Amino acid sequence: MASPVRVVVTGAAGQIAYSLLYQLAKGDVFGANQPIILTLLDIPPMMEVLGGVVMEIADCALPLVKEVIPTADPAVAFKDVDAAFLVGAMPRKQGMERKDLLSANVKIFKVQGEALDKYAKKTVKVLVVGNPANTNALICSKYAPSIPRENFSAMTRLDQNRAQAQLAARLKVSVDKVQNVIIWGNHSSTQFPDAAHATVDLGSGSPVSVESAINDNAWLTSEFVSTVQKRGAAVIAARKMSSAMSAAKAAADHMHDIWHGTKPGQYVSMGVISDGSYDTPKDIIFSFPVVIENKQWKIVKGLPISAFAREKLDITGKELLEEREEAMAVCEN
Ligand code: NAI
Repeated sequence: MASPVRVVVTGAAGQIAYSLLYQLAKGDVFGANQPIILTLLDIPPMMEVLGGVVMEIADCALPLVKEVIPTADPAVAFKDVDAAFLVGAMPRKQGMERKDLLSANVKIFKVQGEALDKYAKKTVKVLVVGNPANTNALICSKYAPSIPRENFSAMTRLDQNRAQAQLAARLKVSVDKVQNVIIWGNHSSTQFPDAAHATVDLGSGSPVSVESAINDNAWLTSEFVSTVQKRGAAVIAARKMSSAMSAAKAAADHMHDIWHGTKPGQYVSMGVISDGSYDTPKDIIFSFPVVIENKQWKIVKGLPISAFAREKLDITGKELLEEREEAMAVCEN
């Protein structure tokens, strides 16, 4: 058997982690034969709850789990980790402005960046889920200068999965038949879910464009986009709590693809450091379509961008620049 992979999950007593840990422990992400050591970080008041989660992991009786280490100490949590799921963040409370949330959370990601820099393996792959995910990932990477910037990514996979599910429902096919829908930009309401390059296999075995299969451009550029953008709010309104099962599944999908690569001809969306591709601002964490091989992602280049898409990319890029400015001001104070 391979030697265990060391994986940290932060916010480990929270609701996303509750779904994610099971998927990690049973081998969905790193492989069905890959043993795992889990380090679970949360804040001191949550240690009792976390103890309950540890009991439940034991009670799942999963053979891949070699050790579970609950802690409130980042030095313990990040020690020698191969992969990090940064889920823990302060939730938005009533009356809290977006700015207040950003300022509380970027401070957490500054501290965790410093801890990763000091304690994690230099090859660690870091997935940021906690919001504002793109800007948190940028700050985390900035404070972990000894780890390559390419090792940090932010989660827009839930948005991608939501978009894929909407298109599949409209086309009356199973969700795996729809490929290459793209989420551009920020994991926020300015994100741009783009079906212009998506394909669908309608049963012939050779995929056709989603645009031609749906043949309703008005739907693709309005209702489809706003449904995906507002899906998180719709789940909160119905469940009175934010998406957790689907967020955990998306985090598992994201890290699975980093670890094992994307399939030929397929791309996935994730927030990665922008090199200015598609005339986006450089040095922000922007969600692009990427392909992954040998644990390295590459932005898919050269896709045609319509005037409609251009406008959407510019809006979300501008928001990310503003977030970066606010975050830097908080961190430098
Ligand atoms: P939750 O409130 O259930 O759990 C968060 C956990 O993080 C709590 O146990 C809390 O004690 C812990 N925490 C707070 N500060 C911490 C710190 N400094 N170190 C370690 N742990 C800390 O929240 P939930 O539902 O699990 O969501 C977590 C985050 O994920 C939120 O920021 C949420 O907005 C975000 N999210 C992101 C999505 C995405 O697509 N990128 C989708 C859904 C949620």
